[in-house]
Amino acid sequence: MPKITVTNAETGETQTFKVGYGANLRQAAFYAGVEMYKGMNKLINCRGLGVCGTCLIEVEPAENAGDQTFIEKLHKLEPNQKLGCRAKVWGDLAVTTALKD
Ligand code: FES
Repeated sequence: MPKITVTNAETGETQTFKVGYGANLRQAAFYAGVEMYKGMNKLINCRGLGVCGTCLIEVEPAENAGDQTFIEKLHKLEPNQKLGCRAKVWGDLAVTTALKD
């Protein structure tokens, strides 16, 4: 099972959890009790529809989070960025969350 190490850019807190291959990162983080959003965005977001962009994360290595989807290309993300709700886990990942105001 891939190991996910999440660093919250807002609080500096680091948490680790494991997920199954192909798991949706936003859902897996939610079930593990790991916060993906910054500030009020945890209450005001599109609930994983890929529209709001508030679940922006940085991933390392990027290839373990899957290719950027069409909607992520519309958001004009950097190569090491993903939307948490569009990221699927295909290997160990270091993730930085709570990036978007
Ligand atoms: S939750 Fe809105 S884009 Fe991911």
